[in-house]
Amino acid sequence: MKEIYFAGGCFWGTEHFFSGVDGVESAVSGYAQGRPDFVGRPSYEQVYTDTTGFAETVKVSYRPETVSLKLLAELFFDIIDPLSLNRQGHDIGTRYRTGVYYDDPADLPVLQEVYSAVEARLGQPLEVELEALRVFFEAEDRHQKYLDKNPDGYCHLPLRTFKYLRLYQDVAALLGDEPDSVARMAETAALIYERMKFFWVGFYIVRGSELVLGPFQGPPACLRIAYGRGVCGTAWKEARTVVVPDVEAFPGHIACSSLSRSEIVVPVLAGAEGICAVLDIDSTIPSAFDSTDALWLGKICALL
Ligand code: SME
Repeated sequence: MKEIYFAGGCFWGTEHFFSGVDGVESAVSGYAQGRPDFVGRPSYEQVYTDTTGFAETVKVSYRPETVSLKLLAELFFDIIDPLSLNRQGHDIGTRYRTGVYYDDPADLPVLQEVYSAVEARLGQPLEVELEALRVFFEAEDRHQKYLDKNPDGYCHLPLRTFKYLRLYQDVAALLGDEPDSVARMAETAALIYERMKFFWVGFYIVRGSELVLGPFQGPPACLRIAYGRGVCGTAWKEARTVVVPDVEAFPGHIACSSLSRSEIVVPVLAGAEGICAVLDIDSTIPSAFDSTDALWLGKICALL
């Protein structure tokens, strides 16, 4: 068993998230890295004054043979805003600063690698601490498993995050090392459709200058989409995820069903060959997709 400590804003959400990661034995809410002159164990009320220097932190105990430190760190950076100083979501204060604290110095190179990769991707210095753990105190019982005890309780993370984490891990496990790309797309479309209850989930596969309908779930859809046409052709041409809150407001949207109100299209990359397909998802609800969907569906497409 190994430990790593993540300060990711309000610990209720961070703890709930990491307790759902396969290979994590326990996630415990607590307080870390207080002022050196603070004596003894802080209470929630003391930490809440924002004068103790403690950060709400989650101690993650994990089995390294099942989940790597690299994956844990990558997931941590996925659920925080690493450019935000002393603020995550609605929560403001030094107690909500972000940080990764290690108790094994051998962990530092992996953490630095992930940190640098995020920094390079964002092109700005991160507001995230990366330090050896100095001190950690477990929080009071009422703060442990808070969101299990209070399913309607406050959470600074979008609740879809927890569903997407489960989906992401299940897609990875079910695909295994299956080499056939059609089988992989078919399984992925079925899992997303079943878990997330979207109206239409499917792949369009790049064939020459067109996208051709691939494995999908939902009502029948158009068979071919030209390069640069519709939402799918735009995502392919511009090589980016396209979120459409209102399909009627998107110029050139191709309506396969009049029931579709909003849509997201995520490119699927095949290494050096570039985009080999797009994942297209439609919802009957307006504005059903945002950056949370873009993040997790992008991670799922990266598994393909
Ligand atoms: N609306 C898509 C076409 C595919 S259907 O949504 C399944 C588009 O504009 O590219």
